[in-house]
Amino acid sequence: IADVQDQIDHELVSKAQIEQKINEVAAQVSEDYRGKDPLLVAVLKGAVNTLAAFSQALSIPVQMDFMSLSSYGSGTTSSGTVTIRQDLSTDVRGRHILIVEDIVDSGRTLAWLVEELKRRGAASVEIFALLQKPSRREVDVDVKYQGYEIPDEFVVGFGLDYDERFRNLDSIAVLKPEVYQGE
Ligand code: PRP
Ligand code: MN
Ligand code: MG
Repeated sequence: IADVQDQIDHELVSKAQIEQKINEVAAQVSEDYRGKDPLLVAVLKGAVNTLAAFSQALSIPVQMDFMSLSSYGSGTTSSGTVTIRQDLSTDVRGRHILIVEDIVDSGRTLAWLVEELKRRGAASVEIFALLQKPSRREVDVDVKYQGYEIPDEFVVGFGLDYDERFRNLDSIAVLKPEVYQGE
């Protein structure tokens, strides 16, 4: 099996750009949530890389929890349904929640999650999404802390996968066509 770097066709967002955006948002969030004891909720598995970098860039103490959701199967298109693979271990009642996501595509995952957390009694629910594909949006979601807008291309890296691989790439990239076709 070829090295990760050998399977990249082109890069869309560099490691430096990711770092810069995460630091920028972290500075804003540190200001906005000072004294609020926020709970960061990361959506597994894609948000892991963003959560790690983002949480370390914050200057305020936070709690973190994880929820495993899936709107995609093994293919490259959304199935449109959200399923819980693993739930939070924190009672969110009265908490100020900041959802951390790698990407908003159709918006279905986040629209569902925001409603679910509000149903559970969260005091507030906001979103930080590192990437957005505006051209693919099907559901209206208010993303307060936005990262980069990217075109409608299937991307991997920094948490994003193709068939569970390439999450470990340190930038956002498009794979060579032959990778998607199965070599
Ligand atoms: C991807 C991505 C987002 C979601 C966005 O997760 O990480 O969570 O899809 O798509 P949407 O806006 O159309 O709902 P995926 O379901 O592939 O699970 P993963 O994070 O484990 O890869
Ligand atoms: Mn995800
Ligand atoms: Mg995925």
